[in-house]
Amino acid sequence: MGCRALLLLPFLSLGAATTIRSRSETLSSLSLPTNPTPDPAVAYSYSVLYFEQKVDHFGFSDSRTFKQRYLKADKHWKRDGGSILFYTGNEGDIVWFCNNTGFMWDVAEDMKAMLIFAEHRYYGESLPFGEDTFKDSQHLNFLTSEQALADFAELIRHLKGTIPGAEGQPVIAIGGSYGGMLAAWFRMKYPHIVVGALAASAPIWQFEDLTPCGMFMKIVTEDFRKSGPHCSESIHGSWNAINRLSRTESGLNWLTETLHLCSPLTSGDIPNLKEWMAETWVNLAMVDYPYEANFLQPLPAWPIKVVCQYLENSNVSDTVLLQNIFQALNIYYNYSGQAKCLNISQTATSRLGSMGWSYQSCTEMVMPFCTNGVDDMFEPYLWDLEKFSNECFQQWGVKPQPHWITTLYGGKNISSHTNIIFSNGDLDPWSGGGVNKDISDTLVAVYIPQAAHHLDLRANTAFDPSAVLSSRLLEVKYMKTWIEDFYRNAKWQP
Ligand SMILES: *[C@@H]1O[C@H](CO)[C@@H](O)[C@H](O)[C@H]1NC(C)=O
Ligand SMILES: *[C@@H]1O[C@H](CO)[C@@H](O)[C@H](O)[C@H]1NC(C)=O
Ligand SMILES: *[C@@H]1O[C@H](CO)[C@@H](O)[C@H](O)[C@H]1NC(C)=O
Ligand SMILES: *[C@@H]1O[C@H](CO)[C@@H](O)[C@H](O)[C@H]1NC(C)=O
Ligand SMILES: *[C@@H]1O[C@H](CO)[C@@H](O)[C@H](O)[C@H]1NC(C)=O
Repeated sequence: MGCRALLLLPFLSLGAATTIRSRSETLSSLSLPTNPTPDPAVAYSYSVLYFEQKVDHFGFSDSRTFKQRYLKADKHWKRDGGSILFYTGNEGDIVWFCNNTGFMWDVAEDMKAMLIFAEHRYYGESLPFGEDTFKDSQHLNFLTSEQALADFAELIRHLKGTIPGAEGQPVIAIGGSYGGMLAAWFRMKYPHIVVGALAASAPIWQFEDLTPCGMFMKIVTEDFRKSGPHCSESIHGSWNAINRLSRTESGLNWLTETLHLCSPLTSGDIPNLKEWMAETWVNLAMVDYPYEANFLQPLPAWPIKVVCQYLENSNVSDTVLLQNIFQALNIYYNYSGQAKCLNISQTATSRLGSMGWSYQSCTEMVMPFCTNGVDDMFEPYLWDLEKFSNECFQQWGVKPQPHWITTLYGGKNISSHTNIIFSNGDLDPWSGGGVNKDISDTLVAVYIPQAAHHLDLRANTAFDPSAVLSSRLLEVKYMKTWIEDFYRNAKWQP
């Protein structure tokens, strides 16, 4: 079966963290524009540029280069007292991330900021070897977070060296999910290049044993449990219902038909069918946004509530239960009414680079996940590094290095760093592996009730819970402090 994408697709607060209860409680002096609709009516306007990067930043014998794509928007940028907001691109098409990071566009004017969105190598158009990029482990060898950070550093030096007025300005790294981890790590490794980082929904502790492996799916389950009566129980019961129905040929045919699947199920497909369903529930948990949106798929507002309307009766026959499950899946796959059939090989937007991420998960980004079927609504699944490692070797010819990320970036021992905001939403399953409590005065957590995966990086809308609006204002406040500190210190230089 290989490394199926289950739980490998990233995207990615409480108590002592900055839990924000009401908008009026904080920061009334700051304000951000509020868009009347979640999707900007006018497309964002930017220039598309390319920068020549070395394929290998960490050796001297390889002089090959490739073109990294980046986007630049400088409408609100001021040479005097301005700033540069730099999106550390993650595992997908940078235009898609740009479209879904309205926060940066909303704050640009207030921060007199130039916006840069840098594409991550091996994703979108930034393929080091064109068609051969994913051919084999030799070509994939330069796909690492370290190389990506070095690309960002080189790009910033280039921008500062070529744009008059940019040189003396502070740069802030901003990213979400894996991009949020990159933003945080960029500040840790290159503090002379960025004055601070906003790391949204960045599960930097989803490695080794820093977070219990069951946490992620527990949060997914909790989202469904809270969104409707018997909702998580229905899903919990569906796995055995599928097992029973799939024992016979006629049961398999019935499932194919009832779930409107594109191709007929065989008994060998059942594990894939169940993983596809599980991944669908996970994706819904990530994008449980308060308004109609199209991130992974077009979806209604609060999609889990909508899904759960079909799953209120858990004490029903196997066939009724699976018919209900179909209605629920159909919300995720067919909200637009365009789907001809449901394809168990597809779960999310093709804007994500699933090949690149599969390789990264098999090398550096080794995130242990498990379920027990008691604290969560899934079938029990043990984290088995050896099995995972063998699958990775089969697929990519490489073996995972589960210790490397913590060795490189410190795991929990990061208190010597400064100026990083870690924001997480309580609905987001990735929040379990995130930083949800302040580590120091300048490594701060912003925990956002009623928020899914990096909702704070999306555009301000009238539909956002007030806690999300005030979290964004708080993030702006921190960023302005870093910028002020930068300019204050700059004055002392000769
Ligand atoms: C980004 O948004 C524009 C304008 O809405 C749209 O035309 C384009 O297809 C989007 N691109 C991606 C990659 O999402
Ligand atoms: C489930 O339904 C059956 C028959 O409709 C009923 O006898 C049983 O008590 C129900 N169980 C629960 C837990 O509601
Ligand atoms: C998707 O929705 C449309 C409109 O309701 C319906 O005609 C179509 O059969 C649905 N597709 C699937 C796969 O169920
Ligand atoms: C299902 O998805 C897979 C993977 O994207 C694709 O290769 C296949 O053609 C799709 N099948 C149908 C019937 O759309
Ligand atoms: C962090 O510090 C603890 C206690 O000193 C140590 O056990 C652990 O190995 C350290 N982690 C890393 C990644 O250095």
